[in-house]
Amino acid sequence: MSEPTTILVERRDRVGLITLNRPKALNALNSELMTEVVAAATEFDADPGIGAIVITGSEKAFAAGADIKEMSSKTYADVVSQQFFGAWDDLSRLRTPIIAAVTGYALGGGCELAMLCDTIIAGENARFGQPEINLGVIPGIGGSQRLTRAVGKAKAMDMVLTGRQMKVDEAERAGLVSRVVPTEKCLETALEAAAVIASKSAIATALAKDAVNRAFESSLVEGVRAERALFYSTFATDDQTEGMAAFVEKREPNFTHR
Ligand code: CAA
Repeated sequence: MSEPTTILVERRDRVGLITLNRPKALNALNSELMTEVVAAATEFDADPGIGAIVITGSEKAFAAGADIKEMSSKTYADVVSQQFFGAWDDLSRLRTPIIAAVTGYALGGGCELAMLCDTIIAGENARFGQPEINLGVIPGIGGSQRLTRAVGKAKAMDMVLTGRQMKVDEAERAGLVSRVVPTEKCLETALEAAAVIASKSAIATALAKDAVNRAFESSLVEGVRAERALFYSTFATDDQTEGMAAFVEKREPNFTHR
């Protein structure tokens, strides 16, 4: 991949860190940024030395949405023929767990990108919203679906129809975020959580992620059936043997796949 211009990419031991970096546009998600985030995350996903990924923005804005200036002149034919936003779907197909560390605005596409990640750790100053309605459009990167599954129909309708912003206390109560921490501790906390995930068996974390995502993507019966099959498959791995032996022998596990 050529050197990215809209993001910063770093490795912190076994954690891959992607920082959105268009400060003048509050990290608005233009096509270039989308391509670069997806490419960097895909490269981390293919790297056995990486066990978890963190995506973050700046203190003021995780991302203030899709880039309105880029979008404003597009026609129906443009967005259909370009499959506009389509590449973001690739993120949801990665096996490596992804944490969004959200401080400041996570609006429109920014909220949708956070929800495309596997879990959201938020700073106290975070604000979530789907304000597309104010622009005469609707969410286009999965917001109407993922927000509804995350917080339920009543709140999702409220957010999507009025465009209002949700502060972190409400976001935590509603189940949109997993943890709320002081703003200045947000990235550090996310990196620590990612390091914990990266210390586990990578096969097991990929299967666990897949199993939880089934709850989002299928009925309860299908999800439980899929979970059972994935659970059985862990018994084909040496990490299962090692993890359980370590417990019985009262020692730390030494997983092969990490
Ligand atoms: N696209 C392009 N540029 C953006 C942007 C966006 N989504 N959000 C902010 N910017 C730019 C502003 O235009 C401004 O640039 P200039 O200095 O060149 O004018 C710069 O970032 C700073 O923004 P503000 O001056 O507006 O900062 P503020 O602190 O006064 O307000 C804000 C912050 C409330 C987040 C405000 O910027 C805002 O409302 N942004 C738009 C939010 C929005 O509508 N997001 C949804 C986009 S549509 C979408 O995401 C579709 C989808 O489903 C994928």
